This record gives sequence, structure tokens and C-alpha cells, in this order.
Amino acid sequence: MSIINPDKKVALCSDHAGYEYKKAIIEHLNAKGIATEDFGTFSTDSCDYPEFAHPCAEAVESGRCYPGIALCGTGNGISMTLNKHQGIRAALCWQPELAVLAREHNDANILVMPARFISPEQALEIVDTFLATPFSDEERHARRIAQIALR
Ligand code: RB5
Repeated sequence: MSIINPDKKVALCSDHAGYEYKKAIIEHLNAKGIATEDFGTFSTDSCDYPEFAHPCAEAVESGRCYPGIALCGTGNGISMTLNKHQGIRAALCWQPELAVLAREHNDANILVMPARFISPEQALEIVDTFLATPFSDEERHARRIAQIALR
């Protein structure tokens, strides 16, 4: 079951280290008829990931886009930035099983990947897995998620 909402675009962002992967993911999704919104970066020139992560997080947090996909070299800097937003649950995944659990247990709304540590093929497999996995809706997971955001 896909988590894609046909009324919303998938939000993407990366820094220079994730740029080529982001481009490939956008082409992959668009070829499947999935609409995307690209929040940058737009080249492999060295840049600062927060510049692109914050607008991407805001688009997902506001509900304008869903879900998000983000990449940097390790996935850590961009995850840290995205997760500063109260409504964001960004999950760093480097294999499909982690994407399944991030969706089933954490209802992650942004998938983050470490571009320098996975192949392009692995990235696309992780993306497809993430988008195909619904939240489990189990009470214990919903209860824990409700406790994540600061009050
Ligand atoms: C860029 O060199 C690198 O620091 C960045 O992509 C990311 O890994 C930071 O967390």
C-alpha cells in the first residue's frame, strides 16, 4: 500500500553530496507518475545543507508536501536539521529494512539517506520501500510517537 497522496508532492532536499542521488530519485519518481518538489541544492557545488533542509521540512510540516526525502553525505547533518522541526520525524535509513521500521513504528514523514555510504540502486530500493510501507497504527507506536514532540 502506497503512502503517496496524489494531491501532494513529495518534497526532496540534499546538499552537494546527495545532489546526484536526489536527481536520480526525482527521475525515478516522476517516471512512475509521482509528483515532486525539489528544494535544492541544484548542483554539486559545495553548500550548507540547512539552507535546503529547513524549507523542505516546513513544506512537510505544513502538510503542503508529503512525504519528504533528504540526502547528505552521511545523512546525519540533514537529519539533525530536519528534526529541529516539531512536526518532522526524519529517519536515517541505509537499508530497506530500516525504511520499513521507520514507517511501521515511527510513522516517519521524511526518509533520510547517507549518499556516500549506499549505492544509487540501494537508494532507489529504500525509497520504494519507504513509500510502500504504511504506519502500523498499533497503539504502542502511536503512543510513543505522540510523546516525541516537545510540549
Ligand atoms: C559534506 O561534506 C558532508 O559534511 C555532509 O554531506 C554531511 O555528511 C553532513 O552531515
